[in-house]
This record gives sequence, structure tokens and C-alpha cells, in this order.
Amino acid sequence: MVAKHPSASSAHPAADVLIVGSLNMDLVIRTPRLPRPGQTVAAPALETIPGGKGANQAVAAARLGGRVAMLGCVGDDAYGTALRDGLRREGVDTSMVSVHASEATGIACVTVADSGQNTIVIVAGANQLLTPAMIEAQRAAFERARVIVCQLESPPDAVECALKLGARLGKTVILNPAPAIGPLPTPWLAACDYLIPNETEAALLTAHAVDSPESALDAAADLHAQGARHVMVTLGAHGVAYVDATRRLLMPAPIAQAVDTTAAGDTFVGALAAALAEGAAPDAAIAFGQAAAAVSVTRLGAQPSIPFRSELGVLAAHAH
Ligand code: RIB
Repeated sequence: MVAKHPSASSAHPAADVLIVGSLNMDLVIRTPRLPRPGQTVAAPALETIPGGKGANQAVAAARLGGRVAMLGCVGDDAYGTALRDGLRREGVDTSMVSVHASEATGIACVTVADSGQNTIVIVAGANQLLTPAMIEAQRAAFERARVIVCQLESPPDAVECALKLGARLGKTVILNPAPAIGPLPTPWLAACDYLIPNETEAALLTAHAVDSPESALDAAADLHAQGARHVMVTLGAHGVAYVDATRRLLMPAPIAQAVDTTAAGDTFVGALAAALAEGAAPDAAIAFGQAAAAVSVTRLGAQPSIPFRSELGVLAAHAH
């Protein structure tokens, strides 16, 4: 394997938000309806749009006021270059994004319907090369950060290492368990200050049927009882089901006309991370994340849809 590994002692300024995770190029097609199994549908065009849950969250945190660094892997190819250049233009420190010749940059095939709903299939590619050793090598960046954010598009041993290192260092640790395939190991939940699944993921993590705000609160309470200190089940237009040690709340979402929900959850997570890094209380950080996500669904694509802080106006001021 030929890899250009970043230096552990890079001279970049300290980041408050460290995102550990995936970078993908999204291959996006828009169709009136999502195809059923066995059905062929026509689309007018194929677009390539920067994405990946980790990179989307990094862009969101940066546009919404955070000083952000990204730790992840891309291939030594045009998509990898485009993704790193794009993050740099957002002010994200990419010195911990390593470039590998042995795998292509991660890809996501995204189909978006006129309703705004999507389906996504990912090919992990270089994202699967992230290792615990790469995480440990960046201990100094973990020490400097206030908030650590992980998702599940990276290998489980690397995610576990990042969660535990963040927790050991007393950082605010956020896990967006996406995509989820089943329950999480208990030590992972114990490392999480914030656990943020959507309703599908909450069902997979708990074996609860999550089909209403009340059932989302039940799933959140279950995950809280397993060790995660703040659990937020994102419910799209129905808001956020939030459970902590003393409260069980449904926080309604701002009204938005959705054209594409891709990266809405990532926008929520990145905004929340930026707000927490600034010292916002959980409720204010949730409101900030909801305001940002509500804007993102009104626009097409993953990273292009993410708003800047100046666009959130009075809502942003209230959230802080
Ligand atoms: O959450 C949306 C993202 O999921 C897309 O950008 C795609 O790359 C997949 O990772």
C-alpha cells in the first residue's frame, strides 16, 4: 500500500471540532419516484456532488461557526483530490486526511425522488482503510479538540478507538450511528455524550419499532439507559425525540418544503457539534441544528445544501 500519511505534528491551528469519518463522492440521479425492486426508471442526468457523512458534518460544522479538522482516508484519484480541496475551501483542516493508492475514494450512489426522499448505496473504498493506529497517531488533535464526532461509515475498530480516546480525554463525544446495522456494543454507548440516530437507525439499535414520536422517545430512553448521556432521535419533519437524565422531550422541527433530504442529518450533527464547541446548552444546540437542517432540505445535494451561519439569522442568535 502506498499511502501519504499526514504528520502527527502538523502546524495547523487547533480545531475545536474533530470529525472522524467518511468522505464520499456522491453520484446523484433524480427521478420522479424511487424505483421499486425490479423497476427501471429514467433520469435526465448524473451529477457528482461532494458528500460522505463525515465530510458533510465537517462542512456543516465549519459553515456554522466551528473550527474544524477532519480525520479520514481518500484514494489517490480525482475524487479524493476534489473532496480534500472542497473541504480546504471551507476552512476545514485536512492535514489528517490521508491519501491511499490501494483503494479508490469512497462513492455513494444516491437516488433522489421529487418527494425529497432518497436511497443511498455506498462503496466504502478508501474509507475502510482508517485504522486505530491512525487514530492514536493523531492523539494531539484529540487533545486540542473540544468535540469529537464519529459516524459508522468507517471500520468499527477505528470508530471504537476514536470514541474511547475522546471519552478518556474528557472530550464531548458525539456518535451519529449511520448507517446502523444492529445494536452497538455497550462500551461504545458509555463513551457517547451524544448519540444521534434517525428513526430507522434507532429501531435497528434497540429492536423497538420506531414509527411515531412516542416510540422514538421510548427508543431514545432505551439507548439512554444503556449509557449514552444525551440521545436525540431525528424524525425529519416530526422533529427530534430527546432524552437525557431528567427529561423526555419532543422538539418540533421548523416547517420546511423538502426537495432533497440528503445530508439533512449530517447538517444537524455538524451544527450541533459547532454549537456545543461554543458552549451552547443541549437544547440551544438542538434548536440550532434543527434550523440548519431545515434549510438544507430545501436545496439539492449533500454539501451544496448546507447553510452558512449568516443564513440562519434570528434562529442562530436565539440558539446561542
Ligand atoms: O448522509 C448523506 C451521505 O450519506 C451522502 O452524502 C453519502 O455520501 C452517504 O455517505
